[in-house]
Amino acid sequence: MSTRTPWWIRIPVIFFLIFGLMEYFIDSGNKPAIIEYPITQFFLLLVLMILIAIELILKAIENVMLQTLSEEAKARYLETKSEKREWKWAKNLYKRLTKTKEIEAENEIIMDHNYDGIRELDNVLPPWWVYLFYATIVFAVVYMVRFHVIGEYDQALEYEQEVAAAKIAIEEYKKTAKDLVDVNTVEFLSDASDLSAGEKIFTTNCVVCHMADGGGGIGPNLTDEYWILGGGIKNVFNTISEGGRDGKGMVAWKQSLKPAEMAQVASYVLTLGGTTPANPKAAEGEIWIDPDAPAVEESEEAPMEQVSDSTDVAMN
Ligand code: HEC
Repeated sequence: MSTRTPWWIRIPVIFFLIFGLMEYFIDSGNKPAIIEYPITQFFLLLVLMILIAIELILKAIENVMLQTLSEEAKARYLETKSEKREWKWAKNLYKRLTKTKEIEAENEIIMDHNYDGIRELDNVLPPWWVYLFYATIVFAVVYMVRFHVIGEYDQALEYEQEVAAAKIAIEEYKKTAKDLVDVNTVEFLSDASDLSAGEKIFTTNCVVCHMADGGGGIGPNLTDEYWILGGGIKNVFNTISEGGRDGKGMVAWKQSLKPAEMAQVASYVLTLGGTTPANPKAAEGEIWIDPDAPAVEESEEAPMEQVSDSTDVAMN
């Protein structure tokens, strides 16, 4: 047997090699195969057990062989075996990369000047350092040609690409994480699928008090522009999530509806606005004006105020 690596290196190396190959060959989308297909965990366990079994068998064979040897041969075998453990290859590599002189051979490279008894060795540059230096030169040349001569891409382009990729990732994420919406981030959902989902939620949970057409019953009319608790997607979402005023009958739905569902039903409620229900309940609350919307009236009001202000000033 030639120099063998010890078992505690061999087993992990082979194991992770098989692991890596498995991950490489099994197409499991974004997730690693080991999570996507739990059977692979069993497979890896099996691999590990087989590797250990092989080690044990080899060990046993070695033992049996040892018993059949004569005393002298046994001693020789054990001797070579203990030598094996000395990591000859690592030592050789270390020597090749440093090229240090043995202390005994230092007189070959000692320089002939002498400062108060301090003398200097003319060591060669260690090869690991020299190779690294050559590598930086190669890197520099490649870099210069790629980015300064050809101009493959620059930081600005790289930044834009990353931002674009991140935007796509965010969109993807939002699709799967609709439940992240809260009263601050909720937006009117205009997708037909969202609205029909909202209608379903409304039919199941809300019609008893608000009527199927939103005309109102126990609860207020949802089709008019008068709102007790404020209109607009954010207020409506908030009312549905947190409930109405105490004792009025509108409970907080956040216990039973997911945020995404509340956003859907809130959007659906807003689509009822302006429709004419069969038995509309009388308006309650106040006309709600969206503070974010560019209201037409305000722009007319503003100069009026100024006029009255100026008359005030004039009168004073
Ligand atoms: C048990 C009866 C009841 C049910 C069921 C109910 N509501 Fe209400 N809802 C009310 C009452 C009563 C109010 C008035 C609350 C107040 O005055 O504070 C109200 C108020 C509202 C408001 C605010 C109206 C305004 O003028 O500000 C919205 C929006 C609303 N409900 C939506 C819903 C939605 C969506 C559902 C179903 C998920 C629902 N409600 C289920 C009774 C109900």
